[in-house]
Amino acid sequence: MKNEQVTELLYQALETEQGGIEVYTTALKCAVNADLKKEWEEYLDQTRNHERIVLELMDKLGIDPGKDTPGRLVVRHIGESLVEAMEMAMEGAPPEAAQLVACECVVEAETKDHLNWELIHEIAEKAKGEQRDELKAAYEQVEEEEDEHLYHSMGWCRELWIESLGMPAVLPPPEEEKEVKTAIGAARAKMARKELL
Ligand SMILES: [Fe+2]
Ligand SMILES: [Fe+2]
Repeated sequence: MKNEQVTELLYQALETEQGGIEVYTTALKCAVNADLKKEWEEYLDQTRNHERIVLELMDKLGIDPGKDTPGRLVVRHIGESLVEAMEMAMEGAPPEAAQLVACECVVEAETKDHLNWELIHEIAEKAKGEQRDELKAAYEQVEEEEDEHLYHSMGWCRELWIESLGMPAVLPPPEEEKEVKTAIGAARAKMARKELL
């Protein structure tokens, strides 16, 4: 395994969680649907906890969390752009449209977040000794929450878009009702949505 790239992944993971806090804070200002708001409040709390977990992990592995790498700066730029996109929507668009923008921004942020933790799980399997134990302890606390963040947010995004198009929507989305935690579960929930209408 390339240790330098493992460190890079952890920098990007930390930056994703830190950007995620800003993304959810802004997304909450865009939320109109009460159930969605409740969901995002929970995800914001969990994201704050994820930041803490990555910081702890870096501390244990002897990595300085204050260092900026070129890759980390790109992640920061994308996070800030997502926040800016939501602010733009709040200024110029009706509340329901800004909510849709926020849903899309959350899905984009969570796609990266989910990938990071999937990769942290992968490297934990290959790592040895203390590094393995620390990586494993971290992803075990986070991975299931990241599954929910991504798959449930994708469901919200799709159903709120469908509702905005004047078609019957399943709200809260089937991914949430079925507590989907895998890609295959998300695909099944999406396929079954028409039976729930
Ligand atoms: Fe996270
Ligand atoms: Fe997340």
